[in-house]
Amino acid sequence: MDRVAPTVVVLGSVNMDLVTTTDRRPAPGETVLGTGFATVPGGKGANQAIAAARSGARARFIGAVGEDAFGATLRGGLGEAGVDTALLRTVGGPSGVATIVVDGAGENSIIVVAGANGRLTELSPADLAAIAAADVLLCQLEIPVATVVAAARHARAAGTVVVLNPSPVRPLPAELWARVDVAVVNALEAEYYAAELAGVAHSVRTRGGEGAVYRAADGHEIAVAGHPVDVVDTTGAGDTFAGALVATWHGGPAAAMTWANTAAALATTRLGASSSIPDRAQIAAAIPEDG
Ligand code: RIB
Repeated sequence: MDRVAPTVVVLGSVNMDLVTTTDRRPAPGETVLGTGFATVPGGKGANQAIAAARSGARARFIGAVGEDAFGATLRGGLGEAGVDTALLRTVGGPSGVATIVVDGAGENSIIVVAGANGRLTELSPADLAAIAAADVLLCQLEIPVATVVAAARHARAAGTVVVLNPSPVRPLPAELWARVDVAVVNALEAEYYAAELAGVAHSVRTRGGEGAVYRAADGHEIAVAGHPVDVVDTTGAGDTFAGALVATWHGGPAAAMTWANTAAALATTRLGASSSIPDRAQIAAAIPEDG
């Protein structure tokens, strides 16, 4: 983290998260009493951009919000978190929303309705210029896949490192995988994309409370152990990991893994996605002495 801060362009979704907490999730057809409700800015793309900014990167976000009240709140939240929103469009119709249920163990279930995110179908000349000028492009899959492919193609041609968090899982063209330098996956995604990941230069598998494993194409591995914390809500922990990883990737995978693993653990100690992402000082203070 000593050199000039890297520039990270995050292309992806931004949602308003409608978060209900409950001791246990209802079975199909069952009604249970909840313990709380909150609206919290989220979306995998926005969460990752905020995590990158809080880890010290210059973060720029390419995304779309709707013309509704959520859109204005989401835009404002990104700006307050230090993310450059010059490339965030406002489009007709509603913003993306995510209905989230968090149970007593801190585990979540999420349903996303794309809204404005589904209308992010074109990259402007300014978007392409930002991608070409960046150190890293970071994408997920809550926007149209064709837009992700176009961005990755442009980034690779410009020498920008392409990082893909292929979440939520969906079929992807080989053309995209051919341009991915770093993939960040959880256990479910690792299983779904097992064949594709074999061809990626750097893959990182997050393992929840058990830490994470980095694997290079030559088989070299780096494992980081779980960081013990009292878990309140795991929502956004994977996004925090991805954003923190790209913000520190220039220092090499070993240091980046330790940083991202610590950031993700801290993110589980508070409710909400973007609201729980730690900053540089908090992450640095929590890194173990031997980390
Ligand atoms: O990864 C967590 C995020 O997934 C939430 O913030 C929600 O908006 C969905 O995009």
